[in-house]
Amino acid sequence: MSKNTSNNQTSKNILLAIGGGIAAYKSADLIRRLKERGFDVRVVMSQSAKEFITPLTLQALSGYPVASDLLDTAAEAAMGHIELAKWADLVVVAPATANLIARINAGMADELITTTCLATEAPVVICPAMNRQMYRSQVTQENLSNLLKRDIIIWGPGSGSQACGDIGPGRMLEPTDIADRTLQFFAPKLLTGQSLLLTAGPTREAIDPVRYISNHSSGKMGFAIAKAAADMGAKVTLVSGPVNLTTPAGVNRVDVQSTQDMLDAVMANVEEHNIFIGCAAVADYRVAEIADEKIKKSSTDMQLALVRNPDILATVASHTPRPFTIGFAAETQDVEHYAKDKLVRKKLDMIAANDVSSPELGFNADSNALKVIWGDGQQDLPATDKQTLAKQLLTLIAKQLANKQDGK
Ligand code: C5P
Repeated sequence: MSKNTSNNQTSKNILLAIGGGIAAYKSADLIRRLKERGFDVRVVMSQSAKEFITPLTLQALSGYPVASDLLDTAAEAAMGHIELAKWADLVVVAPATANLIARINAGMADELITTTCLATEAPVVICPAMNRQMYRSQVTQENLSNLLKRDIIIWGPGSGSQACGDIGPGRMLEPTDIADRTLQFFAPKLLTGQSLLLTAGPTREAIDPVRYISNHSSGKMGFAIAKAAADMGAKVTLVSGPVNLTTPAGVNRVDVQSTQDMLDAVMANVEEHNIFIGCAAVADYRVAEIADEKIKKSSTDMQLALVRNPDILATVASHTPRPFTIGFAAETQDVEHYAKDKLVRKKLDMIAANDVSSPELGFNADSNALKVIWGDGQQDLPATDKQTLAKQLLTLIAKQLANKQDGK
């Protein structure tokens, strides 16, 4: 059995892994809903899932034998667990019980579902289903957040009445909802086929081996843009100054220190990308001569000679071939005026201006607001979290890029 290579968006292979919870009865319907949407579905189930639903039912619905043993000679002869893991375009674990979630998080490989999750290169989706107290327990929450950090996707749980009589969060999402999300997962995204290069964070300009000049940029806005762009289907290269942030899933990160390093990394990558966003708070000046040894305090005053750094954004904007180039303008006054000036002076396609005079917004904060300006238009993106703002900005970029490509 080979991977489905058709271009039909819905002819993808879904490996449905059914854990041993009462919601397992809904998984029979989930197979129907997935097949209705054009997916090819194979089922693996845990031993305890068999207490809730029979393999025969699942076989009849999926049209394939159902595997439940890691080392079953007959099943391994038909399609071994590694082959199943390779066959899948997406693994959907539904229901994912608290036990199964803990075991996937621990990387167990002593039964079929956890081993398949370990062995697959396909994305893995977990649909939690358990009693509300088990769901809320600290250990389950820790397990789920660990899985999220490892790029496992979590859908649900829903909230409502539970089989045990309790009411609260822990219900497996309805089969139609899971099937719709699966369809959405494979749908072409707004930035599919685009490649984004961006800079983020501060740069550090060494004074001597132990000291440097830098600024308070946290890199949060740039990392939010990198994550949103990858989620929207773009190939992303993120050139980052020193920050304390984890690399978003699917993003290629290049770490740099100084402005010159950042420029070198950007120029080495620019021709492979069709969009550039300069989000870094680049140091405008560097020390003229970095001391080889730690500078000693000898007098009450000291002077540091500084020289201008290259402008990365302007260099990219005047490079051939030239990506669609977007800059940021962090201002404390007359934001629109300075941003428009920068748009023209640096020959940009678009500029995202923010007022950094308020401590709640912009630099080092979790929220921001932007005024986005391009050749013949502008739009205000009101204050919100940086992740939402990143999506809104990228949506505007995709629109302007499409207009430019259409010659509008
Ligand atoms: O000129 P100013 O520093 O205000 O411009 C800000 C924009 O220019 C940001 O997009 C920043 O990333 C970029 N920039 C740059 N290289 C510099 C200075 C700023 O890429 N040396």
